[in-house]
Amino acid sequence: MSNWDVEKIRKDFPVLSTTVNGKPLVYLDNAASSQVPQVVIDRGTKYLREEHSNIHRGVHYLSQHATTAYEAAREKIKRFINAPDVDCCIFVRGTTEGINLVAASYGRKFINEGDEIIISGMEHHSNIVPWQVVAEERGARIRVIPLNERGELIIDEYEKLLNERTKMVAAAHVSNALGTVNPIKDIVATAHKYGVPVCVDAAQSVPHFPVDVQDIDADFYVFSGHKMFGPTGSGIVYGKREWLDKMPPYQTGGSQIRTVTFEKTTYAPLPAKFEAGTPAIAAGIGLEIGSDYINSIDFNAAAAYEHELLEYATSRLADIPGVTIIGTAANKASVLSFTIENIHPHDIGTILDQEGIAVRAGHHCAQPVMQFFDVPATARASFAFYNTKEEADKLADAVQRVIEVFA
Ligand SMILES: Cc1ncc(COP(=O)(O)O)c(C=O)c1O
Repeated sequence: MSNWDVEKIRKDFPVLSTTVNGKPLVYLDNAASSQVPQVVIDRGTKYLREEHSNIHRGVHYLSQHATTAYEAAREKIKRFINAPDVDCCIFVRGTTEGINLVAASYGRKFINEGDEIIISGMEHHSNIVPWQVVAEERGARIRVIPLNERGELIIDEYEKLLNERTKMVAAAHVSNALGTVNPIKDIVATAHKYGVPVCVDAAQSVPHFPVDVQDIDADFYVFSGHKMFGPTGSGIVYGKREWLDKMPPYQTGGSQIRTVTFEKTTYAPLPAKFEAGTPAIAAGIGLEIGSDYINSIDFNAAAAYEHELLEYATSRLADIPGVTIIGTAANKASVLSFTIENIHPHDIGTILDQEGIAVRAGHHCAQPVMQFFDVPATARASFAFYNTKEEADKLADAVQRVIEVFA
């Protein structure tokens, strides 16, 4: 393994030294939610103990202090993804809310009868259903980029789907069910040849490698804080100003208006236009500290380490008779989905839990992916840079025991 000091990193995450069912916790459910380092816990506690107040509207000390902290968090996130403009970074509760925002608002303005929306065959439900709803409301049609048997997008087929009716391409940067890293820069460039914007579901990319929204040239880039070492209830929609300025508000009410009369309302400029109501202030500040944490480590080295870990765990599991790896793309993030012949993934998950090993079992909110691979569900081990080779061994040994139990 590379010279990544995993033991030092593990000390930053208190939960990793706890036990579950009498066994040391082996946390391999990072694609669902990553764990939080002590610095995020400390910052959240400090905010709640000493700084908590509603933002933007207050003249008093605490409110101004909380406002400054919240807006500083936005600035930090802007730098984290290299967004060109801090006002184009909108706080949301997470990827789901973010994609709903983009789909509803963009759809209302730009999608009409007979238009087409392209999504990929490996999307999480939260990058399928909001587009289906919009398509139904606006009389548009969903088209799907197909997958090959390794779980990669068939890019030649993608370009064939683009035409003058296409109004949006929505695609994951990284698949949560398969781990596939999509060639997102190329996907965006191809869409732009047809003048079509791209909404990138970045829930699974920001925790694994550095991203640069300007380099990708994404029109929208959406992610959740709780998958990148921050708290739940935090997330970001980055959007290009040229779109956001033209799009109507998603939710309306307090904090997002300029003037209100009973006859007419005018809206505040970005980002407030899209941030109705009191936001999740502590969560937003926690997200900043999660991004700070990532910036404090050598993220490229972390990504290389995770890759080695994935390859090691994959080879261990692939050696076990009866195990099938689902998702074998050439370019993968550290997600390892698998099935065991004649054993339901829920049984796998339950037995692993008895060993203190946390994996996810189910369809991973990606039922079309399960349909494509013709499985009801998979077990999914997803690694972060704090996981170890020994944990991968424990996973493989426990999978072996699952097979023995059911033999
Ligand atoms: C690829 C992908 N998109 C979207 C989501 C939804 O994220 P959230 O539940 O934080 O809104 C997830 C969560 O697992 C995901 O993995």
